[in-house]
Amino acid sequence: MVNQLVMAAAAGLAGSSAVAPETLLPLPPMGFNNWARFTTNISEAIFVDAAKAMAETGLLAAGYNRINLDDAWSTMDRAANGSMVWDDAKFPKGFYWLTEHLKSMGFLPGIYTDAGRRSCGGYPGALDYEQIDLDDFTRWGFEYLKMDGCNMPGRGEAVYRSIYGRWNKMLRAAEKPMIFSNSAPAYFSGRGLATNNLTNWYLAMGWAQKFGQLARHSADIVNYPSGNAWASMQFNYNQHVRLARYQIPGFFNDPDFLLVDHPSFSLEEKKSQFALWCAFSAPLILSTEMSALKREEIAYLTNKHLLAVNQDRLVQQATLVSRDGAWDVLSKSLENGDRVIAVLNKGSTSGSITVSWDRIGLSPDALLAAEQVLVSVQDLWTGESVDLLATESRGVTAENVPSHGTAVFRLKKSASAVTPTGLIFNTRSMKCLTDQDGESTQVRFATCNGSDGQTWRVRSDGHIHSLLRRNECLVDVEGEMSTDRAGCQSNAWRYETSGNLIHGGSGRCLTEGADGRATAAACGIERNEQVVGLPIGVTVVGN
Ligand code: GLA
Repeated sequence: MVNQLVMAAAAGLAGSSAVAPETLLPLPPMGFNNWARFTTNISEAIFVDAAKAMAETGLLAAGYNRINLDDAWSTMDRAANGSMVWDDAKFPKGFYWLTEHLKSMGFLPGIYTDAGRRSCGGYPGALDYEQIDLDDFTRWGFEYLKMDGCNMPGRGEAVYRSIYGRWNKMLRAAEKPMIFSNSAPAYFSGRGLATNNLTNWYLAMGWAQKFGQLARHSADIVNYPSGNAWASMQFNYNQHVRLARYQIPGFFNDPDFLLVDHPSFSLEEKKSQFALWCAFSAPLILSTEMSALKREEIAYLTNKHLLAVNQDRLVQQATLVSRDGAWDVLSKSLENGDRVIAVLNKGSTSGSITVSWDRIGLSPDALLAAEQVLVSVQDLWTGESVDLLATESRGVTAENVPSHGTAVFRLKKSASAVTPTGLIFNTRSMKCLTDQDGESTQVRFATCNGSDGQTWRVRSDGHIHSLLRRNECLVDVEGEMSTDRAGCQSNAWRYETSGNLIHGGSGRCLTEGADGRATAAACGIERNEQVVGLPIGVTVVGN
């Protein structure tokens, strides 16, 4: 303790943070956190050894430059002056030494606390000690703060909003910048799923986007060595795809840690997690024994093609192009105009699937008109590129994707403009908006089945049509949703951060009614029936 105070006086709080919170974290953070691998069994050595291993294996050079402490670093009580106290038994050299040591190696240190009375592990929480704690964490040398939400003074969304709001205010006024990782939304996802009401989850995501740089939105990824890593990863993945509209440059949806040495995780499965997190431009925070990484694990974690997709400056979160029982196809754009396609095989056998040019968001006609017939497609696992004939091949084929594997392709920018293309789905029911085959022009919400009738093109003028009826666009006819040729001129839609798809004329919102009926109804606030996911690239009004 004496040591802490002397060093605190010496360190001072020099410098000022002229950095706007919006530009604090332009790219997804990459690094290490102890929690899923070591939970409360932590010590100085875990972080020092992780840093050493990351430097030696090339992970640091690949961009994994954060070492984040999680829960259980402190004593159970605060000091007489109100400060938290690091546990000397676990951290004999103290935090000034630790942060300096990590920085001297090229890492950025991060710390954890809880916005409530106690952390999830029962350690002191920051409630009513906010300024003392922020000052201490800054003085100790930390630059990143994960703020958990256990043991809050109430369970309501408004309670969380006000206490996390305090932090936002303090951080904006702070002299030194501190990256703020906000776990509040995670406390509403589970409750929402249990009650079938996600309104508070959406509200919490809405303010989390304004209050910090990243937000844990869902359940904890499974802790070593128990549970099923694939099931846990798939759960978080499926939560993540509901939230793409919140991700903007400077704010990241966080689907939790990358697992590597969990005993239930096969190599194919962990590579899938990595590929998907890269396609999402999600934080890449590893929770694994760094010094025990195998050669093939280091190889995929440092795959430069996939890391470039993760760290692309546009930081788009790939969205679903199509989904059925076996396959999810996702896409997004990169800053230089390239297109990324990820293909996840959820099934139990290997298989192949072709993603058409249309579904990728390109137009072979436009390529032809520009006299460009070749599209360069790179397989990001192998780095190999092939030129495909846009006029003759039906699209990009992911061949022999193993069960639970993910193929990822990067298409070079072409002469075709990109039209955001993919699913429009209710993010609670996960039902897909469907242009029906046959006579009826009525649209409905139905189980996602990978069909053209569920693959929507959202034109930049706000008109929306499926690949089934290319000349007929979504219309709101006195509250009934259908498709109609005239809709491609007269019925523009806009998409808002709320997740509402709003008709430009009537001001009504696309709504999922009973038995999958699609209607247009008066817009409410984050009503479960009215929150939908759209393909990335569509302008989100309010972001
Ligand atoms: C919560 C968080 C985890 C971890 C633990 C620590 O469960 O979601 O990531 O921080 O608390 O107790």
